[in-house]
Amino acid sequence: CGIVGYAGGRPALGIVLDGLRRLEYRGYDSAGVAVVCDGQLLTEKKAGKLANLEKVLSERAAVDPDGCGASPLGIGDGTTGIGHTRWATHGGPTDRNAHPHLSPDGRVAVIHNGIIENFAKLRAELEDDGVQFASDTDTECAAHLLAKALAELRAAGQPDGPQLLAAAMRVVCQRLEGAFTLLAVDSGVPGAVVGARRNSPLVVGRGNGENYLASDVAAFIEHTRDAVELGQDQIVLITADTIEITDFAGQPASGKDFHIDWDSSAAEKGGYDWFMLKEIEEQPQAVADTLLGRMTETGEIMLDEVRLSDQDLRDVDKIFIVACGTAYHSGLVAKYAIEHWTRIPCEVELASEFRYRDPVLDRSTLIVVISQSGETMDTLMALRHAKEQKARVLAICNTNGSTIPRESDAVLYTHGGPEIAVASTKAFLTQLAACYLIGLHLAQVRGVKFADEVAAVVDQLHQVPDKLRELLGRIEPVRELARELRSEPTVLFIGRHVGYPVALEGALKLKELAYMHAEGFAAGELKHGPIALIDQGTPVICVVPSPVGRGLLHDKIVSNIQEVRARGARTIVIAEEGDESVVRYADHLIYVPRTPTLLAPLVTTVPLQVFAAEIAAARGHDVDQPRNLAKSVTVE
Ligand code: G6P
Repeated sequence: CGIVGYAGGRPALGIVLDGLRRLEYRGYDSAGVAVVCDGQLLTEKKAGKLANLEKVLSERAAVDPDGCGASPLGIGDGTTGIGHTRWATHGGPTDRNAHPHLSPDGRVAVIHNGIIENFAKLRAELEDDGVQFASDTDTECAAHLLAKALAELRAAGQPDGPQLLAAAMRVVCQRLEGAFTLLAVDSGVPGAVVGARRNSPLVVGRGNGENYLASDVAAFIEHTRDAVELGQDQIVLITADTIEITDFAGQPASGKDFHIDWDSSAAEKGGYDWFMLKEIEEQPQAVADTLLGRMTETGEIMLDEVRLSDQDLRDVDKIFIVACGTAYHSGLVAKYAIEHWTRIPCEVELASEFRYRDPVLDRSTLIVVISQSGETMDTLMALRHAKEQKARVLAICNTNGSTIPRESDAVLYTHGGPEIAVASTKAFLTQLAACYLIGLHLAQVRGVKFADEVAAVVDQLHQVPDKLRELLGRIEPVRELARELRSEPTVLFIGRHVGYPVALEGALKLKELAYMHAEGFAAGELKHGPIALIDQGTPVICVVPSPVGRGLLHDKIVSNIQEVRARGARTIVIAEEGDESVVRYADHLIYVPRTPTLLAPLVTTVPLQVFAAEIAAARGHDVDQPRNLAKSVTVE
């Protein structure tokens, strides 16, 4: 879910809605706002995308143009507000389950991201006290508990004011189990927003005469670049001029200041129909930025910011790469490169599976967690499990100030800039680049067998951004093909070696965006079952490696292409420029620039991204916000 809070001197509503728009990728099942205005709490919430909420707000303005503060949106010119965009967990995506949730007297509004695990018990207890629930959500418990705590503190003589709100929030947090970011406002405490976080993201934006709270910096980046990272189990109280942080027991605590160097225009569509298309185009620069300053002229990898000593790296005897979704696919590619260059055994696991199978870990195990957002709960929980077992954790992450890098022993940031479209593109390529850097660095530190090959790879990596530019400059035929295939019921993807994870990623993109049946297979495995899926005309996208160097691998997949073709498949072949051997087996041929096999996913993935985005658009889907998904999933 996306969360925004504002306390300052300007009308809060517009600022909160703008922030929500920038966070909508975190969830878009419903949206809601609450603004404190002249001692009243004005709220509105609506199922569906943010646009639905905005429509209701403007209708409200039309019937009540002189509403509180005569705001054009009819919800007041109050300068304190909160807003939420939801990815449903407890309770379906309806108006009544949308946030904010209110106390029965309508004074207190609460928004929440995460899951309150003991909510059934809390709800039963509140119902026994006569509280009537207006929704099916776990969040509503927090609203009732907060109202109760406020009433009790007032009754005990504590004066009204921001401190009262913070004190009440502390009381509530001590009752909650699970993961949560909570924000609350109380109409009796104008000018203050209180936030709390356990296991879910919350950052503070430090403005001039105004302050912000948000799930991530994208929400306030156009207003301020100065941010404060909160620690685990902290409460933060913002007013126009103050930011106060305490722990759940009320002891003063401090956050960590950081500066956001993202360009705010990076979070704008900039003339593209969809963020995803813009982010695909940004890939050459994103990869270049991720490599920048990390490779010397002489081919040495410099990862000084990774705070693991050379001795630590020499001690590593096993690597686990742990991630979810697209990030997991980058890990699958990394395994091939890391094992080849370093000869250290490397396993790749889905974060949601990792800790539940009790993996064998110790001090000499290196865990590489990969996460664009740095907030994915499955990945975070795997990280914590690894740390409990004394393994060292190195994060590859795109988001400064997020939880995963903070809790890791070391971090290598990808410099992809903000990625807004739910389907990951530039984050994937930059994750690949970061994985290659780590593999090469490990190889160099440990003294490699393939020193010449490693030096050549460094040189090749330098060339990737230009190759990507060239490829994107001639991608139009992929779009045409996508439009042609838009009504197909099934698309299959096959690859071998690093082409296999690329096939998985191509299929994932198509599922996510086009809602089509799409599957990726190891090409050699087809004959053991999946080949039965192939019917007359079934499109099969074949990712073919370079014929140079690994001729055997190349020839094997060419045989697999012939096998599917013999059974009626329509073959779409992605091959290296100049590879004539595939021409006769390809119904459609997409050439990508020459790249050594291990680095090839950096280029072969790109046509698959474009293909999925174009099919989704041709089928009339929202390319940036596919149904049922969220970009950052902060629940397990
Ligand atoms: C969500 C997104 C995916 C993403 C995955 C991991 O499921 O929809 O696109 O790959 O999370 O996200 P992360 O931020 O950890 O890379």
